[in-house]
Amino acid sequence: MKRKIDFLIIGSGVAGLSYALKVAEHGEVCMITKANEDESNTKYAQGGIAAVMYSPDSYEKHIQDTLIAGDGICDEEIVRMVISESTERVNELISWGAKFDKTESGEYDLAKEGGHSEHRILHHKDNTGYEIERALLAAVHKHPNIEILDHHFAIDILTQHHLGEEVNSRTPNIECYGAYVLNLRSNKIETILAKTILMAAGGAGHVYSTTTNPTIATGDGVAMVYRAKGRIEGMEFYQFHPTSLFNPEESPSYLISEAVRGFGGILKTIDGEEFMQKYDERRSLAPRDIVARAIDNEMKIRGDDYVYLDCRHLNKEELIKHFPNIYEKCLSIGVDITKDYIPVVPAAHYMCGGIKVDKKGRSSINQLYAIGECSSTGLHGANRLASNSLLEAIVYSHHAAIDAIEKFNTLKFCDSIPDWDAEGTAHPEEMVLLIQSLREVQSIMTNYVGIVRSDIRLLRAFDRLEILYKENEALYLKTIISPKLCELRNLINVAYIIIKQARNRKESRGLHFTVNYPKGS
Ligand code: FAD
Ligand code: SIN
Repeated sequence: MKRKIDFLIIGSGVAGLSYALKVAEHGEVCMITKANEDESNTKYAQGGIAAVMYSPDSYEKHIQDTLIAGDGICDEEIVRMVISESTERVNELISWGAKFDKTESGEYDLAKEGGHSEHRILHHKDNTGYEIERALLAAVHKHPNIEILDHHFAIDILTQHHLGEEVNSRTPNIECYGAYVLNLRSNKIETILAKTILMAAGGAGHVYSTTTNPTIATGDGVAMVYRAKGRIEGMEFYQFHPTSLFNPEESPSYLISEAVRGFGGILKTIDGEEFMQKYDERRSLAPRDIVARAIDNEMKIRGDDYVYLDCRHLNKEELIKHFPNIYEKCLSIGVDITKDYIPVVPAAHYMCGGIKVDKKGRSSINQLYAIGECSSTGLHGANRLASNSLLEAIVYSHHAAIDAIEKFNTLKFCDSIPDWDAEGTAHPEEMVLLIQSLREVQSIMTNYVGIVRSDIRLLRAFDRLEILYKENEALYLKTIISPKLCELRNLINVAYIIIKQARNRKESRGLHFTVNYPKGS
């Protein structure tokens, strides 16, 4: 069965939803999403969304903070574009129904996070993403032109390759015609043809053993575009959040927002000594790459499994008021943040690189846009400034929507795309092998491609991953498609790209730190 649609969107986080609301004014929208419609990284965002709202803040200050965090390789034109549109886009988000906390005087209660020189983070308590996802979904549900297909898993995007033509990274005009999508209710693979396709499939935290990301974050978008020979960049810059709750039985890891440090929380070793002054004059509020590396170093030299975040000196009522969910969560494992130290460790958190796009969110493949965490716009450079990702998503959904609206009526469906051929495939002989392979990928990435890297570790990772790649490709060809199999394949692709791009970068910069090329060498 073939479905035809003007605008196909893969992913229902902030990027996909905000784009949907815009393009739906002009044509029919089909949004597919692989789990429940609200399951996304967006839903778990805590700290908030960075935007310039009042003086003494200014666009220039936010721009400079972003450039500094990005360690010299942000695209300054893009930084200027995104930040100078922040106020307008955040106001639009508010007009769609998102609510942010205000002070008693009625102004937005702006928080501060690492690397920010001013208070500029709009937030909804400590669950801002939940509020944004709620508001956007409510607006989308009211729109007659938007259909959401939940529990629909995008397997691959369609290009000339599916018409039997050879496509490689030098093919001048790769076209995207839609996607093969596994309907998880019927277990049938459907062909969705579209005039324009938006990839908004989010991050890939599960390429590492410990991550703050929900289980949907398996790099599907990047992997699909990579297989379709689209351009991927900046994948060596995987951001580790410095402070996830140390609770080894729990996966994914629970985040302790950077806003807690912005509120006055201080990092300490487990004997109660402050240590960040050894690493950066901004101490616990230095940019994330610096703080995560400092924690990693302290844990390694001391042989400790975690460090502490100390909030005991902060006003108890205010702390609970600002961070009610973090308070409750910690309490549930016996940690009262008003009286006890919070044990924390770094965890994989955000994919700074991704599908290379231009100012309008256009990828290197025609008709294919990419926005949100799966994209690489140039905003983050070598290290994302906290709370800039929700902002990036809403600015790019605006730009991409304008371009897609302008073009879609001139485009045609590619009717000659064949339906999925499942001949010769069977159920996997041993499902457990998929789980073992997944753990192997995660442990390769954690052990050799983590916060501190070296040539020898990257080579070791590359060699070991190759074995898994070959095994899994062979399995993929003869096995009935399932989300677990596809996610494993995608994570192997993503791990490969991270390792390859890390090996190509012969320097330490931002999140990519290698002992072979120390900073300044
Ligand atoms: P997501 O919100 O992750 O949405 C991706 C969507 O794609 C999901 O619906 C998913 O199910 C779907 N999908 C994926 N693969 C497929 C497939 N194969 N087929 C169909 N559907 C698919 N950023 C900030 O700016 N401020 C914060 O305070 C903040 N806090 C964070 C806290 C946590 C714990 C985490 C994990 C992230 C945080 N971030 C924060 C980062 C930010 O939340 C994300 O970068 C952003 O929400 C990504 O939005 P997105 O729409 O690109 O992707
Ligand atoms: C946090 O609340 O610390 C997360 C902010 C972000 O990832 O931007």
